[in-house]
Parts: sequence; structure tokens; C-alpha cells
Amino acid sequence: MNRVGNQPIDNAAAELLVRGHRRIKHANGAQVTIEPPAVFMGSFQFDSPTRVGAFTYFHDGSAVQMESIGRYCSIADQVSIGDYEHPVEWLSSNPFQYNDRRFSFHPAGRMTRVPEEECDFRGIAPVIGNDVWLGARVQVLRGVTIGDGAIAAAGAVVTRDVPPYAIVGGVPAKIIRYRFDDATIERLLRVRWWRFSPAQLEGVPTTDVQAALDEIERRIDAGMEPYEPEPITLPVPRPPVPAAAAPGVVRRIRRTIRPRTRLRRLMGGRTKD
Ligand SMILES: CC(C)(COP(=O)(O)OP(=O)(O)OC[C@H]1O[C@@H](n2cnc3c(N)ncnc32)[C@H](O)[C@@H]1OP(=O)(O)O)[C@@H](O)C(=O)NCCC(=O)NCCS
Repeated sequence: MNRVGNQPIDNAAAELLVRGHRRIKHANGAQVTIEPPAVFMGSFQFDSPTRVGAFTYFHDGSAVQMESIGRYCSIADQVSIGDYEHPVEWLSSNPFQYNDRRFSFHPAGRMTRVPEEECDFRGIAPVIGNDVWLGARVQVLRGVTIGDGAIAAAGAVVTRDVPPYAIVGGVPAKIIRYRFDDATIERLLRVRWWRFSPAQLEGVPTTDVQAALDEIERRIDAGMEPYEPEPITLPVPRPPVPAAAAPGVVRRIRRTIRPRTRLRRLMGGRTKD
């Protein structure tokens, strides 16, 4: 059921809050709690519950596990976050040992599986901060935290935590450089400009980071309050057809079919459809 706060809303209303929300794939029914507005430009799959900050957008990709992603993030094509891990130090890395479903369709594939509590290889869901840009084909592995303002260059495989405002690249990803000097990074992390909406940042000189921070600080001192929208919880509901409603449905189908049947009789044969 789509919900804003505790209020259920329909797909059309949800589209005004999360553009492209029907492109989200909720594997295992994973619930995603999103601060509006956010945008899904391609098909993005979530396999576990997560939280998404406002003004973040996604192209095609997946987050098998992700605790949360902040505001103002840019997620390029074919990004993979928190994909499945396999055991590295067991007899085999193959799931026959712990996944009941993988091969048990065949009698030769059946075995008593290792219980879930012994599957210590699964790792921790990544956490992604605010204003993070993940370039095309970036892979973020389990257990990683990506700091506010960080960038992962195209094709990076991020295996370790990324400090705020670092640009990392390569396989495994290493720090290429920082976006700003230490004092500016410290100031950005103190001001946390992403608490505010673009509408509130109207007129801020964003192309000059020091001047932008001066202006944002001035507005905060003048009483600018953080943007705190009511989050929306997806997925889209698939309304169950109650058994009692079935005859009505059948009647409606008959009403659509009957005129054609009558027409067919009048024409003495099949209609073109
Ligand atoms: C990382 C990036 C943001 C550029 O950052 P930058 O700091 O301006 O980087 P520069 O071009 O100055 O290059 C700095 C160094 O990083 C290296 N580098 C740049 N991109 C890299 C990448 N994808 N992987 C590995 N190293 C990379 C450069 O070779 C250079 O290395 P050198 O100093 O040894 O010569 C850009 O290269 C990138 O990857 N953009 C992502 C594009 C994308 O995926 N868009 C999707 C649409 S949302």
C-alpha cells in the first residue's frame, strides 16, 4: 500500500511525489520509504527495506541491501549497491549449502541447508550520505559507508568507506582527490545545506561554494527552517480481488463481450477483432 505518513494514496497521487515510482521493482516486497520529491528515471530494484532522501534520482540499477541513501544523490546507470555475498571460506562459495531454493527443484539438488544464523558472510547494508554521485557502473559492496558529498567515478568498485567529499575511482576504488580543502569540507558538513529544498535555496550562488555557504548561513540565522516532507512508503498496492466481488467482475466482462456476440450472430460469422 502507498502511504504518505499513515494516509493511503493512489498511484496518480504517488507520481506527483515520486516521479517514475512504477519503475521501482520491489523484490521480496521490499518497502521503500522516500522523502518527496525523488525521481526514478529507469528500472531500479530494491531487495530489502530502505530509506531514500529527497531530491535524489536513480537510473537503472539495484540495491539488494542498502540501509539508507541521503538527499540530493545522483545515481547513474547500472549502479549496484550491496549486492549478494557468498561464503568465501566454506567448502564452496556456491549457494547449494545455504539456499533452499536454488537447486531443490531437482532431486539431486536437495540437502539440509546451513541455518541462516550461521550465514555470517552476508555483510552489512551500505549507508550512503547526502549529495553523493555514483557514476555509471559503480558497484558499492556490503559494509561500506559513503560520506556526504563523495563521488565514485565511473566503473569504481567501492570496497572501503569513502570519506566525505572524497572522489574515489578504480578497482578497488582509491581516493583520487577531495572536492574541497579541509576547511571548506568542515564548513559544508557543519552547514548541512541539504536540509533545505531547492525552492529555499533560490538565489543562492551555487557556483561559488564559499559565497553559497555565506548566503545559506545568513538565511539560517534569519530563521530558515529545514525542509521536512512527510515520507511516502511504496510499493504500489495490488488490490486483492475479494471472492464476493467476483460475480460483479464476471457480469462486467459479460457486458463487454455480449454486444460482440450479438453482432457476430447478425453478421452470421466471426467479427474482426
Ligand atoms: C571522476 C570524475 C567525476 C572526474 O573527477 P575529476 O577529479 O575532475 O577527475 P580528473 O578528470 O581531473 O582526473 C583525475 C584523475 O582521476 C582519474 N580518473 C578519472 N575518472 C576515473 C575513473 N572513472 N576511474 C578511474 N580513474 C579515473 C584520471 O585518470 C586522473 O588520474 P591521473 O591524475 O593519474 O591522471 C569523472 O572522471 C567520472 O568518472 N565521472 C562519472 C561520469 C558518469 O558516470 N556519468 C553518469 C551520468 S550520472
